[in-house]
Amino acid sequence: MFYPDELIEEIRYQNDIVEVISQYVRLNKKGSSHFGLCPFHNEKTPSFSVAQDKQIYHCFGCGAGGNVITFVMEYENYSFVEAIKVLADRVNISLPEPEISEEMRKMVQYKQQLYDANKEAAKYFYHQTSAPLGKKAYDYLNDRGIGDETRKKFGLGFSHFFRDDLYQYLTSKGYSDAVLRDSGLVLEDKNKPGELYDRFFNRVMFPIFDIHNRVIGFGGRVLGDGMPKYLNSPETKLFDKSKNLYGLNIARTSRRNNMILVEGYMDVISLHQAGFDNTVASLGTAFTKGQSNLIKRYTSELIIAYDSDNAGVNAILKAIPILEASDISVRVLKMLPYKDPDDFIKGEGPERFEEIIAASIPSFMFEVEQLEAKYNLSDPDHKTKFYQGIARKLVELENEIKRDSYFEAMINRYNMNPKALNSEMEKIGKDVGIVSHKREDASSSEGKIKNRFSKDSIVVAQKNILTFIVSHKDIFEAVRPYIKPSEFVDGLYRQVAEIIFELYEENLEINPAMIINKFVELDQQNNVAQVFNNDVKVENGMQFEKMVNESVQILKNAYIDKMSGQVTEVNDLQELIKVKRELQDLYISLNHG
Ligand code: CTP
Ligand code: MN
Repeated sequence: MFYPDELIEEIRYQNDIVEVISQYVRLNKKGSSHFGLCPFHNEKTPSFSVAQDKQIYHCFGCGAGGNVITFVMEYENYSFVEAIKVLADRVNISLPEPEISEEMRKMVQYKQQLYDANKEAAKYFYHQTSAPLGKKAYDYLNDRGIGDETRKKFGLGFSHFFRDDLYQYLTSKGYSDAVLRDSGLVLEDKNKPGELYDRFFNRVMFPIFDIHNRVIGFGGRVLGDGMPKYLNSPETKLFDKSKNLYGLNIARTSRRNNMILVEGYMDVISLHQAGFDNTVASLGTAFTKGQSNLIKRYTSELIIAYDSDNAGVNAILKAIPILEASDISVRVLKMLPYKDPDDFIKGEGPERFEEIIAASIPSFMFEVEQLEAKYNLSDPDHKTKFYQGIARKLVELENEIKRDSYFEAMINRYNMNPKALNSEMEKIGKDVGIVSHKREDASSSEGKIKNRFSKDSIVVAQKNILTFIVSHKDIFEAVRPYIKPSEFVDGLYRQVAEIIFELYEENLEINPAMIINKFVELDQQNNVAQVFNNDVKVENGMQFEKMVNESVQILKNAYIDKMSGQVTEVNDLQELIKVKRELQDLYISLNHG
């Protein structure tokens, strides 16, 4: 639902934040701010402040913050639209019926038909498991230890062996051939053009839900041995594997404060049944950045429980850097001699699973162990290579405290000479050139290059760019050739940038409130509101242009610095140094009268 920007702004403007919050919280004026007890956490001394000039609130205790709209959303637990309605009412502004273009309405309706068809199919499959013809699927699930309750919770079903029973059923419900084709549920017979038949038959069916509990696709498993073991829906208008996680619709409301990432459908289902309702699966595909962003919305701690085979280990090694780029801390679970979590639970039960979670190891340790496995440590050359590998990994750690504790851990575990390790790290630091790795002498020249821009200035640069592009399409067009969302080094800013780029891509009118609404959790909405509560004071076009350019420079430099800590190939590093040099000549002209 999209109200015009101007209207939202008018509503926000007319609802003075101090007046509105005073309806809920007793505020006392101190200097230019008003203070009170924070309504979002328990406290005895006031750390909740409201700034009338900026029209924002912020709690120094719990970090809550935002504008008058987010306050009402958060306090009343309202959606954006609900909050807008209340605030409009409060100042006697009448809201128009939201404008949606004809084209957009058609698109929304069409998508709704796809959702409906999927849901109808899921129900159909589910009911088969209690029909006589579906008994073998029921027995199969039963033999695998899945109870009725779990079967229902995950909507597990059966597609039987008739060629087109689902197609006939959905047709009788009024779905057009076009919708059914686009849903991926039916296929056209290559030999008989126009004749449609079911994609899935004689398989146990696993509906795949999005976070709003809508069915967006299916996986179907053969009942015994057969190829392929799993058949999945193709990519459709609803189903993009790389942006979805199986089980997240349930895991997102888990009370546990971390998540468990597994490979398969059955791993998720077994673990949920055993009480680990914080489990999600990447469904065998390579773990993606989109999935990582999705996880980050709900937690910043993840335990990977991929299969114990080589493919699993390699997939973990690939997933770790992706997750860490989203600021998620990663641990790795060891299940040997079991193949996967489903097997483990069957063999050992939930208590033992809890124990191996407690014994999971940090990603750094896992990576080092994998490195170790490549070498024969009784061979001095191998040992040297291994130690150098450790030094490189330590250098890559950005956080100094973390680097120090792993330094300690490595020395103790592998009996290394601290001096030698330290000088190896310094050597690598120098080779890398643009990153500071000094453990002791952080003031040397190399040590300073990275800190040319402080963390604060990097945050400000990212915020500025987001604020500029969200409200000025022409600035977006001007900077678009030079920056990518992936270059925003902080996870949240990266997500916001991705959304802005996507919205412009779809040619939509955009405003900050719309973007806030793309985030499901309130704390993220707060953070996003904070991004845009960034009033940039500029006197004239020239100054504005200068500021945009400065921000772009800082953003890109920070990104290059981050990448240079991650590359392992000298060539890649040289490339980065080159890009960094070229960056000095980059100047974006805005033609801003
Ligand atoms: N997968 C797939 N297509 C295949 C094989 C696997 O999509 N042909 C995906 C499925 O999501 C599957 C996951 O990869 O759940 C893991 O595959 P695998 O380890 O082979 O299967 P399990 O999950 O162990 O399946 P099961 O326990 O049912 O044998
Ligand atoms: Mn399995």
